Amino acid sequence: MFPKTILISNLVLALSVVATPATIRDSPVTVSFAKQVNISGPGHIVQQDQARLKHLLSKAGSPATYYDVIVDTGSSNTWVGANKAFVPTSTSVNTTQPISVGYGSGGFNGSEFYDTVTLSDSLVIKNQSIGVASIWGGFEDSVNGILGLGPVGLTNGTLVGVYEEIPTVTDNLKSQGTITGQSVSVSFQPTTTNTSINGELTFGGTSSDKFTGNITYTPLTDSFPASEYWGINQTVSYGTTEIMASDAGIVDTGTTLVYLPSDAFESYINSTGGVLDDATGLYSITPSQYAALDTLNFNIGGTTFGLTPNAQIWPRSLNSFLGGSTDAIYLIVGNMGVPSGSGFDFINGQVFLERFYTVFDTTNQRFGIATTNYTTSTTN
Ligand SMILES: *[C@@H]1O[C@H](CO)[C@@H](O)[C@H](O)[C@H]1NC(C)=O
Ligand SMILES: *[C@@H]1O[C@H](CO)[C@@H](O)[C@H](O)[C@H]1NC(C)=O
Ligand SMILES: *[C@@H]1O[C@H](CO)[C@@H](O)[C@H](O)[C@H]1NC(C)=O
Ligand SMILES: *[C@@H]1O[C@H](CO)[C@@H](O)[C@H](O)[C@H]1NC(C)=O
Ligand SMILES: *[C@@H]1O[C@H](CO)[C@@H](O)[C@H](O)[C@H]1NC(C)=O
Ligand SMILES: *[C@@H]1O[C@H](CO)[C@@H](O)[C@H](O)[C@H]1NC(C)=O
Ligand SMILES: *[C@@H]1O[C@H](CO)[C@@H](O)[C@H](O)[C@H]1NC(C)=O
Ligand SMILES: *[C@@H]1O[C@H](CO)[C@@H](O)[C@H](O)[C@H]1NC(C)=O
Ligand SMILES: *[C@@H]1O[C@H](CO)[C@@H](O)[C@H](O)[C@H]1NC(C)=O
Ligand SMILES: *[C@@H]1O[C@H](CO)[C@@H](O)[C@H](O)[C@H]1NC(C)=O
Repeated sequence: MFPKTILISNLVLALSVVATPATIRDSPVTVSFAKQVNISGPGHIVQQDQARLKHLLSKAGSPATYYDVIVDTGSSNTWVGANKAFVPTSTSVNTTQPISVGYGSGGFNGSEFYDTVTLSDSLVIKNQSIGVASIWGGFEDSVNGILGLGPVGLTNGTLVGVYEEIPTVTDNLKSQGTITGQSVSVSFQPTTTNTSINGELTFGGTSSDKFTGNITYTPLTDSFPASEYWGINQTVSYGTTEIMASDAGIVDTGTTLVYLPSDAFESYINSTGGVLDDATGLYSITPSQYAALDTLNFNIGGTTFGLTPNAQIWPRSLNSFLGGSTDAIYLIVGNMGVPSGSGFDFINGQVFLERFYTVFDTTNQRFGIATTNYTTSTTN
């Protein structure tokens, strides 16, 4: 994870005893999740990037313990035990191997286990290596751990003193034959309330009822360090003016906002007229500046995906969640704090992802993106 943000999207994970072998349905398989904003922590959202995607598990194995975990494409270890004690079952095996993962703000230390992880009826992973936290920091009370959907390479070195990779949840879904192609597709929508169950993760394929037009694919970037993550090359234009030439960065469900390199960000702020608002850490604009906003265009794999003016502002009904004033208009673009050309120049976070359908395709080492019915909707 990028240090400026806290991973706050969560998903309910059930670790359960599976009495009979799980019935595997046709690949792909889908689970739902929700987006949650914490109203009691004003000011937290910007510094720690706090929207949450929470999966609600309606049907589960029994006995099972449910854990709310962050859906995170920016890290790769799956673990539980924060704010909710881990309950071992007959399938739990304590390897006694210490595990330690830091996320910039926060992290956890504990022991690595093997266990059966259940994401839904048709997503049961046997013998998944998971961390069980004994000490953690930086997570809200409602977060019990992380579902790590990032590249497996990020797990190397997280077992203390061991330089080996730990197969991820998607690695095991593939190796256990639950899915045929190793990929995760992400669908969710812009929301104006603090909790909304409108997200969907599809493992092993895409859900054609969730996007419009064709999916554009682009190869994962070669540029280090974005190449360690779900990294891509893209260009960014404000209206027709290019503000960021082809550059590498990442796509991350664990980050709330969109971040651009400092030079591109400065151009954007100069053009929009945004002014730093100390209370929220975001840049605010006036109603007339909002009326004059142009589209912020992201060129990915040869296709342009635009954030409309409405998609460039924080939902006004949620301003209080930021510690902001209810009648203000806040831009959702932030400054990466590094100049373009650093090899990790931007983050396309949740406010970007909620406008598009996205595909994280390990098998073909590519990222996919398509428009949805919400790409240009006026919700904020
Ligand atoms: C969402 O908002 C409602 C009403 O303001 C509040 O009761 C609830 O606790 C909030 N939920 C979270 C997770 O902050
Ligand atoms: C909301 O944020 C406050 C302040 O950071 C924290 O004490 C509380 O536990 C959070 N609530 C949830 C449901 O995470
Ligand atoms: C796993 O084993 C380690 C080493 O013996 C121990 O410290 C830890 O408490 C165990 N974890 C759990 C959850 O039992
Ligand atoms: C679980 O996986 C580990 C590592 O691949 C292996 O050593 C162990 O035998 C497996 N356990 C079971 C029950 O399959
Ligand atoms: C985990 O252990 C490392 C090394 O001892 C330490 O630096 C880090 O602060 C610990 N993390 C937490 C969350 O306590
Ligand atoms: C893990 O990292 C170590 C140290 O950087 C490296 O030597 C090793 O090749 C890596 N292992 C894998 C499987 O990439
Ligand atoms: C988009 O909206 C149209 C009209 O309401 C509907 O027929 C279609 O199924 C929707 N498509 C998606 C991908 O949501
Ligand atoms: C999608 O791709 C197909 C095949 O390349 C093409 O015929 C079709 O026009 C494309 N549709 C859109 C909406 O771009
Ligand atoms: C991405 O950009 C880098 C730096 O400009 C370039 O070396 C690389 O070939 C581009 N394409 C990919 C797929 O990494
Ligand atoms: C933004 O505006 C300031 C003040 O007018 C100017 O000094 C700076 O060069 C501009 N930056 C960009 C990237 O346009």
